[in-house]
Amino acid sequence: MSFRDRPRILVTGGTGFIGSHTVVDLVEQGFEPVLVDDLSNSERSVLDGLEAICGRRLELHEIDCRDRAALDRVLREAGPIAGVIHFAAAKAVGESQRRPLHYYSNNLGSLLTLVEAMIEHGVRDLVFSSSCTVYGQPGQLPVTEDTPLAEPASVYGATKQIGERILRDVVASGASLRVTLLRYFNPIGAHPSARIGELPLGDPQNLVPIILQSAAGLRGPIRIFGDDWNTPDGTCIRDYIHVLDLAAAHVKSLEWMARQAEGSLIEVFNVGTGRGRSVQEALDAFERATGRRVEREVGPRRPGDIEQIFAACEKAERTLGWKATRSIEEAMRDAWAWQEALGRR
Ligand code: NAD
Ligand code: WQD
Repeated sequence: MSFRDRPRILVTGGTGFIGSHTVVDLVEQGFEPVLVDDLSNSERSVLDGLEAICGRRLELHEIDCRDRAALDRVLREAGPIAGVIHFAAAKAVGESQRRPLHYYSNNLGSLLTLVEAMIEHGVRDLVFSSSCTVYGQPGQLPVTEDTPLAEPASVYGATKQIGERILRDVVASGASLRVTLLRYFNPIGAHPSARIGELPLGDPQNLVPIILQSAAGLRGPIRIFGDDWNTPDGTCIRDYIHVLDLAAAHVKSLEWMARQAEGSLIEVFNVGTGRGRSVQEALDAFERATGRRVEREVGPRRPGDIEQIFAACEKAERTLGWKATRSIEEAMRDAWAWQEALGRR
């Protein structure tokens, strides 16, 4: 089948970290991704990496998702769209506290405009990027999809909770929409080809990009944010998932929605590995996987950090037939190969 005959999937935020890896999985699974991105947190050069992996140039529409006229144009001209994966959002927790209006406008404005356009153009299936941040510090671990949501600790977190709520309300109103809400845990790693990965635009705030820069000698020792938490080694616990495993959950969600009866639906899934790792364990995994040492020092706790969280993923396995398969070492090795490729640029 020519790629022109494949089901076309609109991917907003398609040149971003998770978006670009999902685009690769879409191509491998027989879909034709149509990318939309305003390049506010990614680069056009991601298309070169995607071309090297996928063997052909993919289509990017450089538009802001809040621009309804531009979105209409894409939906009219890109051919019939079978579904949408909506990644486009600003995602830095600290920045969201300093620029609340930008975060509410960008993250919620994009969603509202996109959903209105989908309804008008008769596009029904949507996968939405949510986050485990909606749970705050859960009382019981692992967290299931039924765990009550916490009061949002940041503007960014609020945009994810409100985004989920908007979609529930639209589906409840009877709109012809099928929605999968994916709550991601901590995505790390890169494509093993080292042609795409996470672009450190600005100063990274997340653990793995900081580890990579520290191991590459681009910054000093890694500072562990507290070793006096109530965990076995005193450092915080997270559920780190290889970005390619996370990517696969989107394709499985699209396939699952397409198998459902006509009518509307909304379903939420945790997307993690089911295994919690402490900061020390994540650092050990990096050292084992790459043979490189990372100097560590212990600093104070980071305000707003939660002690521990990891996912129960049985619902996604049962319903979508999806499960994470890659190890944390594999993710660290792939992330390091990407860092080395960045260094050669
Ligand atoms: P990213 O910043 O790499 O990708 C997001 C992409 O969206 C970027 O390429 C950016 O240029 C684009 N974008 C932003 N606003 C836009 C707009 N208005 N119109 C068009 N394009 C726009 O981030 P990511 O890590 O790939 O995250 C993707 C999604 O997953 C986001 O919704 C994020 O909130 C969510 N998420 C990320 C994580 C994580 O740790 N990376 C965890 C949970 C959820
Ligand atoms: C991981 C662990 C830190 C840096 C954030 C967002 C969340 C979600 C995922 C989008 C924590 C520790 C980190 C450092 C450290 N994003 N750490 N030294 O905090 O789980 O979540 O990204 O939805 O919303 O809040 O991820 O990578 O920042 O931190 O010790 O220099 O590493 O304390 O325990 P986090 P992270």
